[in-house]
Amino acid sequence: MQKSPGVKPATVFRFVLCITLLVVASSLVINRTSSQSKVPETIVLAKEAKLGQVTFNHMKHAMEKRSPDGTKQIACVDCHHTAQPAAEAVKHPPHKTAWPADRTTTLTMELLDKDANALGAVCTDCHARADQKPKLLPEIPSVKFEGSAEPTVMTNQQAFHHSCGTCHDEAVKARPNLDPAPPGSKKCTVCHKKAAA
Ligand code: HEC
Ligand code: HEC
Ligand code: HEC
Ligand code: HEC
Repeated sequence: MQKSPGVKPATVFRFVLCITLLVVASSLVINRTSSQSKVPETIVLAKEAKLGQVTFNHMKHAMEKRSPDGTKQIACVDCHHTAQPAAEAVKHPPHKTAWPADRTTTLTMELLDKDANALGAVCTDCHARADQKPKLLPEIPSVKFEGSAEPTVMTNQQAFHHSCGTCHDEAVKARPNLDPAPPGSKKCTVCHKKAAA
């Protein structure tokens, strides 16, 4: 018996392997450029703060396991609390507001992929600086925190310090050996840095 003179099996195997690797590699590139490019990598906050601006690594906070105990990712809506239906927001008191008010969707990376406007609004559209009127609301929202007699006006300063500082304080408590420690609410200048002149 004669062997058929066609292509050697090894060559076929190598060809198939190459195509497979190409497909895998290009799908990784597509995934990365479609959803993650719409989410800012780092954001400079508090640009007008006397203490200095705050450089916030948005991508690390969204993608790494940064819950206080370090076991879970932080959900988009843990920070972007109005980017979910009002019926979901009320499950996390004192939250109740959705933006837009009639929204039916919850912000995720996949949703942002399909709808570039899925976020709806940024924090400072509602949590304005102390003497300013917010863009989207008639006035800066107030919240009555447990244990305080008076409601707190949630200016940008209050909103960010509660959102960012509370989680960092919990993380330091849950994981005292975390090095470097996340900037707790009293570590003002670990977050606020004067821009290099
Ligand atoms: C730890 C808090 C936090 C988490 C988690 C988080 N974000 Fe953000 N995100 C922010 C802050 C703060 C800003 C800046 C808002 C501002 O300028 O007022 C921002 C800005 C954005 C912007 C840009 C808005 C603009 O128009 O400038 C997008 C888009 C966004 N986030 C999407 C997401 C998505 C999608 C997720 C989940 C995969 C997510 N974020 C998770 C805090 C967070
Ligand atoms: C569309 C307006 C709007 C946007 C956008 C918004 N907030 Fe709020 N925020 C509110 C309102 C209104 C309340 C009062 C409670 C409620 O109605 O949900 C509130 C309450 C809060 C509170 C107090 C309750 C708590 O969880 O301790 C914090 C902190 C807060 N917001 C932080 C943020 C941060 C950080 C962002 C952006 C990542 C943001 N908010 C985006 C309107 C907004
Ligand atoms: C739900 C928890 C959580 C929230 C909300 C959160 N952080 Fe963090 N952050 C962490 C953790 C955990 C670390 C430390 C991560 C590590 O070192 O592994 C961290 C680290 C940091 C650091 C050190 C540099 C870095 O990114 O590694 C800065 C600065 C920071 N956070 C700023 C902010 C700001 C500003 C906000 C609010 C807009 C915020 N964080 C909201 C959990 C949180
Ligand atoms: C976890 C990071 C973090 C820490 C720690 C922190 N801040 Fe802030 N601070 C912020 C962010 C973020 C904003 C508001 C961002 C914005 O409006 O863009 C802010 C806003 C402010 C503002 C209002 C600025 C303005 O005029 O708009 C003041 C004042 C301020 N911080 C002072 C302090 C002081 C004092 C401390 C220490 C007791 C402190 N911060 C600790 C992140 C932090």
